[in-house]
Amino acid sequence: SILKMEVEQINKGKYEHYMQKEIHEQPESLTTTMRGRLIRGGSCKAKTVLLGGLKDHLKTIRRSRRIVFVGCGTSYNAALAARSIVEELSGIPVTMEIASDLVDRQGPIYREDTAVFVSQSGETADTLLALEYALENGALCVGITNTVGSAIARHTHCGVHINAGCEIGVASTKAYTSQIVVMAMLALAIGADTLSNQARREAIIDGLLYLPRKVKEVLKLDKEMKDLAKLLIAEQSLLVFGRGYNYATALEGALKVKEVALMHSEGILAGEMKHGPLALVDENLPIVVIATRDSCFSKQQSVIQQLHARKGRLIVMCAEGDKASVSVGGSSRVIEVPHVVDCLQPVINVVPLQLLAYHLTVLRGYNVDQPRNLAKSVTTQ
Ligand code: AGP
Repeated sequence: SILKMEVEQINKGKYEHYMQKEIHEQPESLTTTMRGRLIRGGSCKAKTVLLGGLKDHLKTIRRSRRIVFVGCGTSYNAALAARSIVEELSGIPVTMEIASDLVDRQGPIYREDTAVFVSQSGETADTLLALEYALENGALCVGITNTVGSAIARHTHCGVHINAGCEIGVASTKAYTSQIVVMAMLALAIGADTLSNQARREAIIDGLLYLPRKVKEVLKLDKEMKDLAKLLIAEQSLLVFGRGYNYATALEGALKVKEVALMHSEGILAGEMKHGPLALVDENLPIVVIATRDSCFSKQQSVIQQLHARKGRLIVMCAEGDKASVSVGGSSRVIEVPHVVDCLQPVINVVPLQLLAYHLTVLRGYNVDQPRNLAKSVTTQ
């Protein structure tokens, strides 16, 4: 009805689509996610993290033999992005489970496990079934959701709300970045009882405090991403290469492109390049390579060299000022993004890919907020 359309326009404000609005609102949604949870102490007082919903369970979590992250789609990718910082700060091995696959395999879950269920809606059927399964097996079950009172929030033993605000676009954007931030805070909270990683923890807390500003900066790439989308509008396929902290970014960027722009896209672990994907490389197939600064940087530089040697059509994402160190000949296009502490870089790096997927979709004339065949919340198996 006309009224419904008018209400929608009011909700979208100055934006044309919810996905666009939700991408651009990330500086604010991230601020809300962190509100009241990062305590900046005085000069001699250490900075700490407070997650109210977990504080009575932290001891149990620290004693667990394993942490298992469970989710679907974007929520799974967010957990994957946070996996290594959780391992680093907690010293506890983290394994990853796609919810449906855990249930299909009836994979081993033990009483000594902490199982973390990540879901924007909190109502995803596959994730809920995996939760029931983990409860039956006696694991401590933690929920990370965006929806207060959702099934996953109600059935878990404890949890954290991401407080990203209502997400309407079927493609998850602001929930993804807030989920990563919550899991980084989870890592900080679990690791807070050891003195050894104090400096590292403080660097991450500083990084979190600067993050909304940095996201605001990276959003200025909007026009550049629209121009890139114009170049890619008629492509059949797009590959995204990432590794380390940004393997998840590659998967998430590719998921966005396929679900809204209806273009085949694949996230590839760069370390696997020579084990198959390299055969796809030619002068036509566009490839995004994520090469921001972290311990994998020099390895990514060599991946760029090797893709270039096969005449790959490269679009390289690097940190500001690194253009010269990632450029190969005149053939590659470079996206420069603000640099943040390594484990939070995925929050920055996903933004240009969200923008690219958004513009590709609009230019290709598809419905960006409700892609064909998909539902916001998948409540059936
Ligand atoms: C994300 O863009 C997708 N629409 C989809 O992968 C989604 O993340 C998945 O269905 C999980 O949803 P949830 O976070 O609500 O559980």
